Amino acid sequence: MTDRIAGIPRTALERLLADERARFDAAHPRSRALAARTAAHWLHGVPMHWMGDWGTPVTLFLQAARGAELADVDGNTYADFCLGDTGAMFGHSPEPVARALEAQGRRGFTAMLPTEDAAVAGELLAARFGLPFWQMAQTASDANRAVLRWARAITGRKSLLVFEHCYHGAVDDAFVRLEEGRTVNRPGLVGQAADLGLHTRCVEFNDLAALEAALRTREVACVLAEPVMTNAGMVLPEPGFLEALRELTRRHRTLLAIDETHTLSTGPGGYTGVARLEPDFFVAGKAIAGGFPCAVYGFTAELEERIRGMLAAKPAGHSGIGTTLAGNALAVAALRACLEQVMTPRAYEHMLAMAERLEDGLERLIEQESLPWHVQRVGARLEVGFTRTPPRTGRQSVGALPPLLPDVIRLYLLNRGLVITPFHNMMLLSPATPAAAVDRLAVGWSQCVADLTIAARS
Ligand SMILES: Cc1ncc(COP(=O)(O)O)c(C=O)c1O
Repeated sequence: MTDRIAGIPRTALERLLADERARFDAAHPRSRALAARTAAHWLHGVPMHWMGDWGTPVTLFLQAARGAELADVDGNTYADFCLGDTGAMFGHSPEPVARALEAQGRRGFTAMLPTEDAAVAGELLAARFGLPFWQMAQTASDANRAVLRWARAITGRKSLLVFEHCYHGAVDDAFVRLEEGRTVNRPGLVGQAADLGLHTRCVEFNDLAALEAALRTREVACVLAEPVMTNAGMVLPEPGFLEALRELTRRHRTLLAIDETHTLSTGPGGYTGVARLEPDFFVAGKAIAGGFPCAVYGFTAELEERIRGMLAAKPAGHSGIGTTLAGNALAVAALRACLEQVMTPRAYEHMLAMAERLEDGLERLIEQESLPWHVQRVGARLEVGFTRTPPRTGRQSVGALPPLLPDVIRLYLLNRGLVITPFHNMMLLSPATPAAAVDRLAVGWSQCVADLTIAARS
């Protein structure tokens, strides 16, 4: 029997990958030259080592990013559906944010003092996401770390609960796996001295019985969850799961932190707004200030009171929460401009329409070619899953991620001016993405499948 990967013969994938690598090589001489220079001074030849994870023969060097387009240093242009892995969900350099940064840039970057923009941005956050109190951080990882500390401090409980194969950024406590019912450190994690299983419980997404059993101990300070798992392929909540999560956390006096860093793709108020989730904490980063480094977390009036009370009663000394540059004047200016002028209901209308258009195109391809694949979507964010039916847990989803096939598809598309995310195959639609680019992407997927069919015959 032929060795097949998600319905495609492995030999066809290997053949097409070799062709595409050669094609990429020929089109990127300047990237190759720059990669040779950077290899001498940067780990993996890049300023942040994940930038080397694209699976291209050499690192692709960016010349410029604008709207929903990228240009590389060799003069190739691309329709960008990766959008900085969500940081540029609202397009690269959105004009109002660029203008706000330019103006604030001449009035001081950071002074450890709030500006007038903070008054406006606070009001905008509260009105949009329905929580009255807010704090800023520089990254979503930082925001999540702060939320965990506040939650532990005010509940007096030590444990965190997360879902198997979640990702919430570089948050040590969340780097766990579920192994035979035990929570253990995640394989692959480096430099971690602590046994994270001591204070973190890990259960499967959509497993209410396990969730209830973990919360019943009343040791869990906080559940940190994405409303849709977007970092393990894509796993949607089953009907009633998020409502039950809210009810159980309330019943057991555990705080619920909803991390909307990726699911902000759902609508102007995030998934929380659409599904009326009522979290205790709400976290968003990456795109919340148009891609300028910035994250926010919001919380209820009740939590604000508990936090203030706890801070007043604690011994003097550093709380361990906050960083020097968080809430700097540039970030607040960018945040205000993004909330006020970029993340508008109109922008979302376009993003969602484009996402539906792409979803239709991909579903048509899957049906016409009888591929054992499916499409998952959360608002303007979608992925192809390489199984006939969608997964219901993180473990199922990660277990079904095939080797080779996503790499072939990604490089094939890249070679045709279409960029999708290097992590699984996430595709994101921005307010700047034109319908023509969406149609080109759907055609790109079809051509890739057609060329794989040809490669399978030769
Ligand atoms: C859901 C979620 N939360 C938080 C983060 C962390 O974001 P950052 O790397 O910007 O800190 C990520 C990153 O992918 C994420 O997917």
